[in-house]
Amino acid sequence: LAKVEVELASIPEGKNVIIKWRGKPVFIRHRTSEEIEEAKQTDWKTLRDPESDEQRTKKPEWLVMLGVCTHLGCVPIGEAGDYGGWFCPCHGSHYDISGRIRKGPAPVCFYPDLLRRVSLTIPFSL
Ligand code: FES
Repeated sequence: LAKVEVELASIPEGKNVIIKWRGKPVFIRHRTSEEIEEAKQTDWKTLRDPESDEQRTKKPEWLVMLGVCTHLGCVPIGEAGDYGGWFCPCHGSHYDISGRIRKGPAPVCFYPDLLRRVSLTIPFSL
């Protein structure tokens, strides 16, 4: 499997970085404490694709997701949309700061936390 290493110390708090992995974009966000709090406070059980923030991150300050809209595969724009996360301009899906689908046609959340699912290696030694 493809392996990518990212120097997280170079990503300031409150910023997004997009890296390429297997030809696909991967979103990494260094979340602020306010964003983490907001993500945890969301009543996630009522969402279309219910996932808690804890289920979606290994370390809450680092959100790592496949940067592909789960509707038809466009690459959403960061720091946009109605929920402070990402907005897909292709057909109007809005994702929150946990990468969960909140509005629009996308059926499920961004595929989260690649650290658990594939061999994307991100050293957490800051
Ligand atoms: Fe993103 Fe359709 S591809 S909303």
